[in-house]
Amino acid sequence: MAQNNIAVIGLSVMGSNLALNIADNGYKVSVYNRTTSVMEEMVKKFPHENIEGKATLKELVESLAKPRKFIIMVKAGAAVDAVIEQLLEYVEEGDIIIDGGNSFFKDTQRRYDYLLEKNIHFFGVGISGGEEGARRGPALMPGGNEETYKEIQPILEDIAAKVNDIPCCSYTSTGGAGHYVKMVHNGIEYGDMQLISEAYTILKHLGGFTNDELVEIFDKWNKEDLESYLIEITSNIFKVKDDQGEGYLVDKILDKSGQKGTGKWTTEQAVDLGIDISIISNSLNARYMSALKDERVKAEKEFGGKSYKLVEDRNHLVKIVRDSLFTAKLVSYAQGFKLLQAAEKEYNWSFDYAQIAKIFRGGCIIQAKLLQNIIEAYTNNPQLDNLIFDPFFKETIKENQSSLRETIILAINNALPVPSLSGALNYLDVYTTANSGANLIQAQRDYFGAHTFERTDKDGSFHYDWVGNNDK
Ligand code: 6PG
Repeated sequence: MAQNNIAVIGLSVMGSNLALNIADNGYKVSVYNRTTSVMEEMVKKFPHENIEGKATLKELVESLAKPRKFIIMVKAGAAVDAVIEQLLEYVEEGDIIIDGGNSFFKDTQRRYDYLLEKNIHFFGVGISGGEEGARRGPALMPGGNEETYKEIQPILEDIAAKVNDIPCCSYTSTGGAGHYVKMVHNGIEYGDMQLISEAYTILKHLGGFTNDELVEIFDKWNKEDLESYLIEITSNIFKVKDDQGEGYLVDKILDKSGQKGTGKWTTEQAVDLGIDISIISNSLNARYMSALKDERVKAEKEFGGKSYKLVEDRNHLVKIVRDSLFTAKLVSYAQGFKLLQAAEKEYNWSFDYAQIAKIFRGGCIIQAKLLQNIIEAYTNNPQLDNLIFDPFFKETIKENQSSLRETIILAINNALPVPSLSGALNYLDVYTTANSGANLIQAQRDYFGAHTFERTDKDGSFHYDWVGNNDK
């Protein structure tokens, strides 16, 4: 009977959890996996009255009410194209295909255009929140045709996380916009994680704080402005004892961080669109550098080991680190939203920034109390050039930037790397400097390449014969 509401294709952890979440919300879900045994195991392990396993795509398609809706939850890349091609054998005009993976937004745009020619609606939906989010309520960033969005809006809003009963799901814009927003979300995630890790190393090495003490500090922070999912899980991480030996697990984990590429995409985009996202790109570089473990071990030996000098006033250290972390986080979000603004222009999208901040408020990895301030900032002024001009951002940054400077100087004096905290301060210093040194760069460009320059006192484009006049 063609009566089920939606199909989930791809039943790895994210796909199965999402299917269960949809089913819990009262929708009839057909599930399919290329390897049939995976589907059979899922249906057996999580029996649910609203879930029906289908062994073939044909059966899957035939089980759905029209317009048929499919959510593809397979690995980003070629697998998504392969599933779309297979589905094309069975779908009809008006059917809706959703890609819920971490796809590159340009792939999503290409698939959207390709399927539009066939009158099949395609949505790229950024999904954040990991396994738990998929199961209990993720943050959802849908992009595609706005009119058709109404067809999938109820399901997406029902399964999304809620904050004050408002779903963390909102239409973003056309084509690849939803996956773009998810990409920037992940970039901000990289930044937040690196900033927290820098705060951790300062407290550990320069404050001498133990893991138990760090739990207290992070728990306190999580009750204040810094309240967020990542601060909460960090505190939980510090509590965990090693299950395979003495001490704490975090101290046994090799300091080499992995990645799946979304932070790289964000940085590449920022370079393409000419936007400084120093915190995200420095965080990405920090991950690359972390991977060079053997070389770092060798270099530390050859260049002299580290000896950190403990501070005398530990309470003061905690205060300046907290202020630094919060300020850098404000700058990081400002950079991320600036990238979204540039993308809106470049790709002819139409973003509602307060709505995007609402999506991020719950369910996702970067959910934080600060998102409420961003919602207010864009509600008060949707045309903000940069979030740092919002009164809350401005006052907080002004109040805290001396702490940020002090923390960075302390870290630098101890040769403790803080690339992302420094990236935040540099960005602030550059952005708030009316007269930079770029006049000299313009002079050099004009000197060797006659690239011309503008003047401070007259309109127009000028060239000076630097070589000829130097010879005189
Ligand atoms: C999310 C996460 C999710 C995933 C990333 C991790 O929003 O739920 O961002 O998408 O955890 O893929 O990315 P890295 O492996 O690149 O750290």
